[in-house]
Amino acid sequence: MRSGAGGVPPCTFVIFGATGNLASNKLLPALYRLEAAARLAESLSIVAFSRREWDTARWREHVRGVLAERAAGMLEEPVLERFVARFVYQRGDLNDAASYRQLDGLLRKGGVSCSSTVFYLAIKPAEFAAVIRNLEAVGLNQPRGLNRVVLEKPFGEDIESALMLNQLLHQHFDEEQIFRIDHFLGKETVQNLLVFRFANTLIEPLWNRNFIDHVQITVAESNGIEQRAGYYDRAGALRDMLQNHLMQLLTVVAMEPPPALEADALRDEKVKVLRSIRPIAKGAVRAHAIRAQYARGDIDGVEAAGYQQEVGVEPNSVTETFVAAKFYVDNWRWRGVPFYLRTGKRLARQSSLIAIRFRHPPQQLFRETPLESVAPNWVLLSLQPEESMRMEIHVKQPGLDMDTRVMQMNASFLKTDEQTLDAYETLLLDVIEGDRSLFIRFDEVEWAWRVVDPILKHWAVEREYIPTYPAGSWGPAEAARLFDSDDQAWRNAP
Ligand code: BG6
Repeated sequence: MRSGAGGVPPCTFVIFGATGNLASNKLLPALYRLEAAARLAESLSIVAFSRREWDTARWREHVRGVLAERAAGMLEEPVLERFVARFVYQRGDLNDAASYRQLDGLLRKGGVSCSSTVFYLAIKPAEFAAVIRNLEAVGLNQPRGLNRVVLEKPFGEDIESALMLNQLLHQHFDEEQIFRIDHFLGKETVQNLLVFRFANTLIEPLWNRNFIDHVQITVAESNGIEQRAGYYDRAGALRDMLQNHLMQLLTVVAMEPPPALEADALRDEKVKVLRSIRPIAKGAVRAHAIRAQYARGDIDGVEAAGYQQEVGVEPNSVTETFVAAKFYVDNWRWRGVPFYLRTGKRLARQSSLIAIRFRHPPQQLFRETPLESVAPNWVLLSLQPEESMRMEIHVKQPGLDMDTRVMQMNASFLKTDEQTLDAYETLLLDVIEGDRSLFIRFDEVEWAWRVVDPILKHWAVEREYIPTYPAGSWGPAEAARLFDSDDQAWRNAP
């Protein structure tokens, strides 16, 4: 894992899909911030590859426009000047071999100077295979140890397609060259969770089935599917979010301490967690997973369309925009502790939260007092909108009676003069520096697909009906049916 020191090796960074959403929303702002932080080597060139009939000058204008919108607060003309000067535009078609020959020419002829190249596939998963084959055809998968390929989740759309994609990748690239991004792992709170768990002896003795009642992981989004119906209507919330982002969060909460903070040591521990998740039996899917779709509603006073009314969604689509599921990790540390995972679009608020509820004290000492029973302790790790950690503990209220109140010990991660990094900033620097600790190894992908596979199969045949929830709510009330006991309930806010 990166320690903060060390230089950035020179290389070329090629963005396939340079004019797409991901490039504009995440990659360009993150690369610009790295430029501003002086973390990009002087010799780094960036090639923007896209189908539009543009030239380099037109592209550089585009970069300025994107950054004016998305990084407005931090634009400084000399930095911007330096940044846009790094770009070369390459017009090309992802499926056309001639475009790759041109790209190869550009990279080899010193139009761009570099010892190694990163190929970032900021494109639809359905286009991955064509790019991988075409890169190999012109020899751009070489040199084997140096050139790198970066792919975004989801890796495949089920276990079978994931295995096929992996086979194809391994025909043309070595595992060391492959960077599978799950950008949640680049989020500061997720990395902080590792520090919280493994740098504080206070926590570790409590982090198990003897003290923890259950774990909740919620990623709630108030936005809808934006202009992504083409992808989303095929994917749904289970493939888009739960199989990857939420499952990764689960592994970081549940994993054993690794022998070292190295890529493979970390990933070995995460895989062990995934392998320990109890398989959901065919007949038990209804008891373990709930899906729903947003209907028309209201978010912060603004009317929001239902999923079926979104442009590009198939009529009568039963794609889920909300999923809640319950898993058990059957190992010594966690046996019997339910992990409740939940995510959805068009929910009441943008909020990502890992909430850990502790058990009740073994003896109700306060039974004869006005207190009767004491609410349990929680540890709340918020990823969004703010990054913070809270602990809820009981204190006695001042006064004659034995009354308590819950006090939140609030450890905001940031000092007032600090800013959070965007996940992509961290991850892009890791790609450039060749650190794979926060990237996904294929066995993680494979086991995560195995975990959700029974749910996917069950829903694939139940195509007639999907329950709905109003946009702006916290999802269907039915999501509460997953809980193992009456005193468990979803935690919507930290
Ligand atoms: C992406 C999903 O991976 O993550 C999107 O495809 C989702 O549907 C996004 O909105 C959420 O990421 P973030 O970092 O904006 O919370």
